[in-house]
Amino acid sequence: MQKIAAPPRAVLFDAYGTLFDVYSVGLLAEQLFPGAGERLGVLWRDKQIEYTRLLTLAGRYKPFWDVTQAALHYSVQKLGLPSTPGAEEQLMNQYRHLSAFPENLEVLKDLKSRGVQAGILSNGDPQMLAVAVKSAGFGGLLQHQLSVHAVRRFKNDPAAYALGPQALGLAARDILFVSSNCWDAIGATWCGYSTLWVNRTGAPLDQLDTEPTRIGTSLREVLEFFPALNPPSTRVPS
Ligand code: LAC
Repeated sequence: MQKIAAPPRAVLFDAYGTLFDVYSVGLLAEQLFPGAGERLGVLWRDKQIEYTRLLTLAGRYKPFWDVTQAALHYSVQKLGLPSTPGAEEQLMNQYRHLSAFPENLEVLKDLKSRGVQAGILSNGDPQMLAVAVKSAGFGGLLQHQLSVHAVRRFKNDPAAYALGPQALGLAARDILFVSSNCWDAIGATWCGYSTLWVNRTGAPLDQLDTEPTRIGTSLREVLEFFPALNPPSTRVPS
């Protein structure tokens, strides 16, 4: 394993796709649109991210919730699905309370016990993030909930990543930014962060001439950047 030169002093997580599973809506989508749930989940996510990029590129903005709703509406139409009344509303409600990946709660608790300052840096608007964090049981484990809403520019705009160093009062290189979205980990790397790409799906690296500091397969790998305060082997026997 590659040795970490200087351990980071804090960690910021991407939210959607990293802490919260955006494809956990698939089950409900399949119930509402039999045979098309998975396709809808994938297109919805792709469109959502595409719209964030188009808006920021054009100097425009609307909150991530509205972007997500617009992307869903487009995707239902694009796939020619018979949208029953309330179906999109049900899916949006589910999006508010996305499931967290199974290992995440334990990792966040572990970071807290190691005294590590942790937070979120997300495209999500503050209200969405607050509800998602609470419903996943992450309350009290994330000291910072940084939203690009403050700068009205979505990732990968450098203004979005600049929120981390500003809020934490640390240099970007001293902050570990963790994302399951490769493009997001690369965007943070471009802005000077130490980065971990949690590649849960075995996706290929985005070909953007930059690699994240490290690539892993589970959020647990965050812990390797932050040594335990009192590892059992170094404890003085009483
Ligand atoms: C976020 C997007 C990338 O949470 O899902 O910032």
